[in-house]
Amino acid sequence: CGIVGYVGGQSALDVVVAGLKRLEYRGYDSAGVAVLADGGLAAAKKAGKLVNLEKALLEAPLPAGSTGIGHTRWATHGGPTDDNAHPHLDNAGRVAVVHNGIIENFAALRAELAERGHQLASETDTEVVAHLLAECHSSAEDLAEAMRQVCRRLEGAFTLVAVHADEPDVVVGARRNSPLVVGVGEGEAFLASDVAAFIAHTRSAIELGQDQVVELRRDGVVVTDFDGAPAETRAYHVDWDASAAEKGGYDYFMLKEIAEQPKAVADTLLGRIDAAGSLTLDELRIPDSVLREVDKVVIVACGTAYHAGMIAKLAIEHWTRIPCETELASEFRYRDPILDRRTLVIAISQSGETMDTLMALRHAREQGAKVLAICNTNGSTIPRESDAVLYTHAGPEVAVASTKAFLTQLVACYLVALYLGQVRGTKWGDEIRAVVHDLAAIATEVDRVLETMEPVRELARSLAGKNTVLFLGRHVGYPVALEGALKLKELAYMHAEGFAAGELKHGPIALIEEDLPVVVVVPSPRGRSVLHDKIVSNIQEIRARGARTIVIAEEGDEAVAPYADHLIRIPVTPTLLQPLVSTVPLQVFACELATARGNEVDQPRNLAKSVTVE
Ligand code: G6P
Repeated sequence: CGIVGYVGGQSALDVVVAGLKRLEYRGYDSAGVAVLADGGLAAAKKAGKLVNLEKALLEAPLPAGSTGIGHTRWATHGGPTDDNAHPHLDNAGRVAVVHNGIIENFAALRAELAERGHQLASETDTEVVAHLLAECHSSAEDLAEAMRQVCRRLEGAFTLVAVHADEPDVVVGARRNSPLVVGVGEGEAFLASDVAAFIAHTRSAIELGQDQVVELRRDGVVVTDFDGAPAETRAYHVDWDASAAEKGGYDYFMLKEIAEQPKAVADTLLGRIDAAGSLTLDELRIPDSVLREVDKVVIVACGTAYHAGMIAKLAIEHWTRIPCETELASEFRYRDPILDRRTLVIAISQSGETMDTLMALRHAREQGAKVLAICNTNGSTIPRESDAVLYTHAGPEVAVASTKAFLTQLVACYLVALYLGQVRGTKWGDEIRAVVHDLAAIATEVDRVLETMEPVRELARSLAGKNTVLFLGRHVGYPVALEGALKLKELAYMHAEGFAAGELKHGPIALIEEDLPVVVVVPSPRGRSVLHDKIVSNIQEIRARGARTIVIAEEGDEAVAPYADHLIRIPVTPTLLQPLVSTVPLQVFACELATARGNEVDQPRNLAKSVTVE
């Protein structure tokens, strides 16, 4: 969910609604706002996307006020209805609260409140907080103290922001788990889940730590822990501006983000390869002596980041000979994994907030493993809780379906793999140097792919009426196939599945029927030519059974041409780096197909970009 709070000289409603727009990627099942005005509190909320709320506000405007809060929701407790939307109010309508997370003991608290005569209107855990805050406020010295008292009683994960009509110039926030950032302006202050919400007003930010409460006033902020003791915070300057969080002439964020990939890749490499072609990852903060001792690598991640991790496994094992496994973060801690201090766990996450990944890394650290985060969001929870972090420099990614973050995650994974190889001096020294050289040139290759995408778009439009698309790959092409299928599910709502091409004959081949589109990611014919020849056979097998073959193959690979109904060319790259170029056509394909089917590309149904619940 996305949260915004504001206090200052502008119209709180305008600032909050504009902020929510920037946070809609975090959830868009419903939205709501509350403002303090004329000694009272006024709120509005609506199921569906933010535009529904905007329409409602036009029809029934709220009074003007300069303190307000807002929320855009990804439903957990209770369906996405008007009633369940945030903010939630107490019975007297004096307190309004918005919330991100899950309050685990809400049933007990709710029963307790009901016993004391409170009438709860919604099915949400958040409403309980509004009622508790109202109760505590009557005896506490102020809203911040009431918030601290309430937080001490809550179990689970929560980030809360509240206002009280008795304190018209104050917004109070509390953070446990999901992030909350303060924006400090001239005579105004902001509170949001992400700096994107206030970047148009200020680039000066303060990041709240775990279990902290903040009191926001026009002239400053006070941060304490849940017991009221002054707390340490980290102030920083946001190094991108509002334009980075805008569409910049593109119809969708996803299109813009696909186009930004060459720059994102180049930025992620910047300063990490020296003139002699060696890697310098000083920021890792894990000493080389520790890295030399590592005897196992475990990668945990979700969704697209998991696919990056699957590719990283192949690179790490090949270049370092250290055994590596990649696991879905949501499965990891429940299977009692074997970890010790010589295990390096790599947690990959664009947002740095995904709860499944966070829980996996906490479990790994409890077992004594070292955790390295690969993350795109400065100061987010996952890097904060890791031993080290390697940031991807993709810039803000807004579209729910990940594109540029994926490519930069790959780059970061290659860097880690190559660096491990470098510090451990494996026998692949020459190959490592050659790959570093090719990696440095890869952004240009990504650019070249982007320039040749028109036929892919045309093909996608022609397939808009299909129900199913299959994706096949081998080696690094297998995770790419999974990623291509995931993109299509997310965006086009089509049945899309990725398979390891060798597995085809063990079942999936039964799915092949006349004119079924099958995308095949073909490995390079150089190097691993056996793999290449095998996949050419696979293409022939499915074609013989009627499949319409869409083949992604290297320039100059002529062996596949006779069996390709559609041939998509990608530049020649080292085997392990191929995903950096082969994924791009699949992103474009899914985006165009979704558009042709009339779907909303940036905000696909039922999804959210940051999933901060398990
Ligand atoms: C959500 C998003 C996916 C994303 C996954 C992991 O499910 O919809 O696109 O890949 O989370 O997100 P993360 O921020 O951890 O990379």
